[in-house]
Amino acid sequence: MSTQKLATNALHAGHDVKANGGTRAVPIYQTSSYVFNDADHAANLFSLKELGFIYTRLNNPTNQILQDRLAAIEGGIGAVAFASGTGAIATGLLTLLKAGDHIVASSSLYGGTYNLLSVTLPRLGITTTFVDASNPDNFADAVQENTRAFFVESLGNPKLDVLDLEAISVHSKAAEVPFIVDNTVATPALLNPIKYGANIVIHSLTKYIGGQGNSLGGAIIDAGTFNWANGKFPEFTEPSAGYHGLKYHEALGAAAFTFKLILEGLRDFGAAISPTNAFNIIQGLETLPVRIKQHSQNALAIAKWLEQQEEVAWVNYPGLESSKYKSLADKYLPNGQSGIVTFGAKGGFEAAKTISNETKLFSLLANIGDTKSLIIHPSSTTHQQLDEAQQASAGVSQDLIRLSVGIEDIEDLKADLKEAFTKI
Ligand SMILES: Cc1ncc(COP(=O)(O)O)c(C=O)c1O
Repeated sequence: MSTQKLATNALHAGHDVKANGGTRAVPIYQTSSYVFNDADHAANLFSLKELGFIYTRLNNPTNQILQDRLAAIEGGIGAVAFASGTGAIATGLLTLLKAGDHIVASSSLYGGTYNLLSVTLPRLGITTTFVDASNPDNFADAVQENTRAFFVESLGNPKLDVLDLEAISVHSKAAEVPFIVDNTVATPALLNPIKYGANIVIHSLTKYIGGQGNSLGGAIIDAGTFNWANGKFPEFTEPSAGYHGLKYHEALGAAAFTFKLILEGLRDFGAAISPTNAFNIIQGLETLPVRIKQHSQNALAIAKWLEQQEEVAWVNYPGLESSKYKSLADKYLPNGQSGIVTFGAKGGFEAAKTISNETKLFSLLANIGDTKSLIIHPSSTTHQQLDEAQQASAGVSQDLIRLSVGIEDIEDLKADLKEAFTKI
């Protein structure tokens, strides 16, 4: 594990300059496959007697640098990159779970993840109990005999609820199940969930880590702290039919889950990231610590300004004194609370829709974490497939507007919103 600090790791971790032909920038290895030295070398790679590259669906030197860098930054022992954040979440859960298993999840999740857990996974026999995550004890109360994972977002999108990760991890430890934390909105530059008991951290790299809105990607970082031999995960201790009898826990110890993600998750589901996207995301990752400070500063300034506007009914940003998450933000996000702000338009659904339609600098689109400012009205767009009660438990009200505050000049951003308010 790296002993260097965040800003240094963001620029250097995982890139062995000498081993990569002296390249100062990370090279793009745009290849699907790798020539074996001879037939024995090929056989050894397939049987894991030797580690090396076989096929880019499983791994690639550019992707490996991204993975090692993310592991260093989050404090994990290994990481695996995927084609998108959704690819990471789906592959992670399908690698871990089987029909009959159960998840306890926060109800405040990104809409796509909520749908995966509430609609798609139940079709495969994997069910989820959603709980109000503001009370950590709710996780313990929802545990069943077949529970095999806890799943939360450290900073919920779009509810912006800061979770008490440490308190929830006490319950995941008692239930002997892995604690999975989607850390996309908080970013590893502001919060490292592994420090607070997370066993597995997930990112959509599409957001702040890539940061420029140009490439999709996802990642799973394995803390290497979960005891897969506790009797609840026979797929880790019994010979794997899917990988010629390999006993993951016995053979790979703390790295068992990382290898299972590659050897079975990527092999069978195929959501591999392209090396060019990995390169683009590495470019973003290198400046993440600097960018996220500006995102956080601008978001706090916009949130404070919005609180004073007559067209605004309420403002939600964990850094505001008025936020009910302020004390948790002080503990978990002391260096900034990232770039998402939500607020309510006084005129309700129609006024909120109008504002999202009228801004010029804030682009109307379904993404977050771009350097450029973004706006959306979730109730009529990203969350329209949920009914009103489901929208409410995900933190979406009809009047809610979500801003992803970019790093433009703050006065220009205020002027853009002010002008849009005049169109209500
Ligand atoms: C918190 C969170 N997790 C996961 C995802 C899914 O990521 P992707 O769009 O890269 O599939 C998103 C996307 O918005 C998100 O906001």
